[in-house]
Amino acid sequence: MNSPELTQFLQQLHYPNLDKTLEELHLLGNIHVNDTHASIELLTANDNSFAILKAFLKQQLHQHFNTLEIHTNTSEKQMRHYGDTAQPNNRAPYASNVIAVTSGKGGVGKSTVSINLAISLAKQGYNVGLLDADVYGPNIPRLSNTDTERIRWNDNNQMIPSENFGLKIMSVALTTPKNDTPLVWRSSVAVSALIQFLEDVAWGDLDFLVIDMPPGTGDIQLTMAQELPITAAVLVTTPQIVATDDVSRAVMMFKDIGVPMAGIVENMSYFIAPDTKIRYDIFGSGGGERIAQKYHIPFLGAIPIEMTIREASDRGEPPAALGTKEQKQYYDDIVTSMCQSITFTTRS
Ligand SMILES: Nc1ncnc2c1ncn2[C@@H]1O[C@H](COP(=O)(O)OP(=O)(O)OP(=O)(O)O)[C@@H](O)[C@H]1O
Ligand SMILES: [Mg+2]
Repeated sequence: MNSPELTQFLQQLHYPNLDKTLEELHLLGNIHVNDTHASIELLTANDNSFAILKAFLKQQLHQHFNTLEIHTNTSEKQMRHYGDTAQPNNRAPYASNVIAVTSGKGGVGKSTVSINLAISLAKQGYNVGLLDADVYGPNIPRLSNTDTERIRWNDNNQMIPSENFGLKIMSVALTTPKNDTPLVWRSSVAVSALIQFLEDVAWGDLDFLVIDMPPGTGDIQLTMAQELPITAAVLVTTPQIVATDDVSRAVMMFKDIGVPMAGIVENMSYFIAPDTKIRYDIFGSGGGERIAQKYHIPFLGAIPIEMTIREASDRGEPPAALGTKEQKQYYDDIVTSMCQSITFTTRS
């Protein structure tokens, strides 16, 4: 094989478990063949997808070259384009709207925001499904008090989602022997499991499928955007990380792949002392609004940091369902702003 032949071969290869080729995903950098030595540069977004693709290419090419050098271009990493998902697959035709709750960083409150927004939508009478796409750190069963449930099948061989607080809920944590069994899947297997959750779960007709994404901008986010027409993404951030590259990267990723941003939620925004009622802007103020302005994305609202939000969430008592009037209002207001920022499809 010479350089053009190798380039052509690589361009048409499909990324493991995806319907997209390496060319469509813009993953190929410089490619050189020199006699029996090949050098391939991959423009992968993170170490995980680099490892997957490297292993896959070694397996595909080991017979063709004596030495095969596969490396990643770190300077390209930051500004990588994720491809155009103008026409993604639709693995969830039963859902009128798909909302992806995401963030650039871990621990900012995506799962807490996901379940409470989903409950707020369900309270308005919508049929709502909640998919826990965080296969390595699934928290939704605990947050929804369904963590003792295990997976069941119906007569059509479909998985039956758990139900609580008016939501249908699916998570890998329901499929493991115990809720806290760690998952050691490779990312490509995790991606296949999520596709199965989209296709083989008895969700019924949904007005909204809310997806609690894992942190970051990796394979799972990319797959979900390719396998589903995501109506809108909700970006969760905390004041202290709004200015970081992680947030920008998450915004750029969704822009790149053509997913509309419903807006930004600033979580753990401020603290009101329960005794004195004095407000403390522990992490500064106005960060979420600044980033919303910078990227021309709506600011959907702020949720303060409250001990009772954490305590109730840990007990599986979501504030949007069982919290104080004020706590319910935080999430209801965000849902109202979200519905103003995006035109959702309503079933007649
Ligand atoms: N507004 C809030 N006030 C107090 N505690 C909160 C608030 N929002 C989230 N928390 C707590 O912060 C912790 C992290 O929240 P959560 O698990 O929702 O974050 P995450 O972004 O989904 O994390 P990961 O990236 O690990 O999936 C949890 O203990 C949660 O109860
Ligand atoms: Mg989470």
